[in-house]
Amino acid sequence: IGDYDFVVVANRLPLDRVEEPNGEVSWRRSPGGLVSALEPVMRGTSGAWVGWTGSADEAPEPLDEADMHLVPVALSEDEVRNYYEGFSNATLWPLYHDVIATPEFHRAWWEAYVAVNRRFAEAAAQQAGTGASVWVQDYQLQLVPGMLRERRPDLRIGFFNHIPFPGYEIFAQLPWRRQIVQGLLGADLLGFQRQGDATNFLRACRRAAGLTTKGSLVRVPRGKPGEPDPFDSPIRGGRSGRSGSGENPEAADDRLVRAAAFPISIDSAAFEEIARRPEVKERSAEIRAALGQPEVVLLGVDRLDYTKGILHRLKAYGEVLADGRLSSPEAVLVLVASPSRERVAQYQLLRDEVEVTVGRINGDYGEVGSAPVHYLHQSYPPEEMAALYLAADVMLVTSLRDGMNLVAKEYVACRYEETGALVLSEFTGAADELGSAFVVNPHDIDGLKDAITRAAKIAPAEARRRMRSMRRRVREYDVARWAGTFLDALGREPNAGQLAE
Ligand code: G6P
Repeated sequence: IGDYDFVVVANRLPLDRVEEPNGEVSWRRSPGGLVSALEPVMRGTSGAWVGWTGSADEAPEPLDEADMHLVPVALSEDEVRNYYEGFSNATLWPLYHDVIATPEFHRAWWEAYVAVNRRFAEAAAQQAGTGASVWVQDYQLQLVPGMLRERRPDLRIGFFNHIPFPGYEIFAQLPWRRQIVQGLLGADLLGFQRQGDATNFLRACRRAAGLTTKGSLVRVPRGKPGEPDPFDSPIRGGRSGRSGSGENPEAADDRLVRAAAFPISIDSAAFEEIARRPEVKERSAEIRAALGQPEVVLLGVDRLDYTKGILHRLKAYGEVLADGRLSSPEAVLVLVASPSRERVAQYQLLRDEVEVTVGRINGDYGEVGSAPVHYLHQSYPPEEMAALYLAADVMLVTSLRDGMNLVAKEYVACRYEETGALVLSEFTGAADELGSAFVVNPHDIDGLKDAITRAAKIAPAEARRRMRSMRRRVREYDVARWAGTFLDALGREPNAGQLAE
């Protein structure tokens, strides 16, 4: 039993441990939306953060950093391959993103996932004080809530899924679907990005584990020592005992778990503050000058991931140039595609395709001294990102499936002059909130081309109207509000009476 009242458990720590070629060790901010959202929440809470350092090695000693107690969990090289690159990012990631890429199912990957989840659960149990709140994050750690509850029934356990939760027909492909549902149901409260994700999960509880749900609540039978695993039967409704007709006298013992939507956000004020710095504004002018002072700067910012619709975006942009609706060098696309999961085959394939496509567009429509696509396979600190957002007239978010997409919100937060336009895929969580964007279906290339053209030629008054409404939303629903709403809800026991009928 540890000292902390509040413990976050995530696959990654907010900092990656980087070993330089000369053997020196430094810490660099970790990639992705999860860390950029949670880090500002954790600062100042004096909580503990349990996570992986991003490289296969012995776990370094815990360190205290910006009011957080960082607790590294070690992964061996095999575990990085099987748990992280394998089960997390070549099984679950494509499965949960509507099988845009084909998921692979391997027993050895699953076994590594179980073992590593157990290690995270143990580390969290060691840090958490009696009655503490533990907040488990994302698809890499879906078994942790169940494992943690077994060891520490005194804890209040929350789980938040940063990525989509798929429809049952897709989820059902997973050979270990029942164990995943069971693991998640160790939590008191399960948070998802969109209502549709929560609904999909509730359906998985009924179909994969035969449980009863009502509204947002799932009734979870409490296993008793010596009794068979209450999840043993795939269809509980058909068995004698707890469910079906007739009141079960033990039902009062059952736990109720709530699954609901808590759309994540960003530290909007912090982004705006960075964007307003004079040196950031200067840097954005420098960027436009370096691009040759084009009339329209379009921008894409993603991890280089097949869920982001980067090829769809390039196809539409290439066709807009071919049609002459925009032309180079008056229009320039800056494509920031940060390196991600580089040893996973699907990511290597995508990188090749993106680079061939960028080369083709530049070859077809460029001239000496100007290229229609500026492709950057790099990642940048928030100051440089803010300068890029300020330099961009049009932000292109074309994900084929995306839990939230925080880049869309970052762009909006930085546009304090109420200029600029956002083209936003309807398949992002952000589209639920940012209805004043140019909302597109990225599979509809003609529709995407129209949206790009309209956004590039938008009249200032319309841009202001749309941006103002999006900014209001992003300012009000920021990440502090997200975390506050979730943690408040976690603090309230669901009302057992609600399921009784
Ligand atoms: C997404 C996931 C996060 C993940 C991030 C970066 O945002 O929801 O859990 O950390 O991508 O991916 P990586 O594999 O580098 O951690």
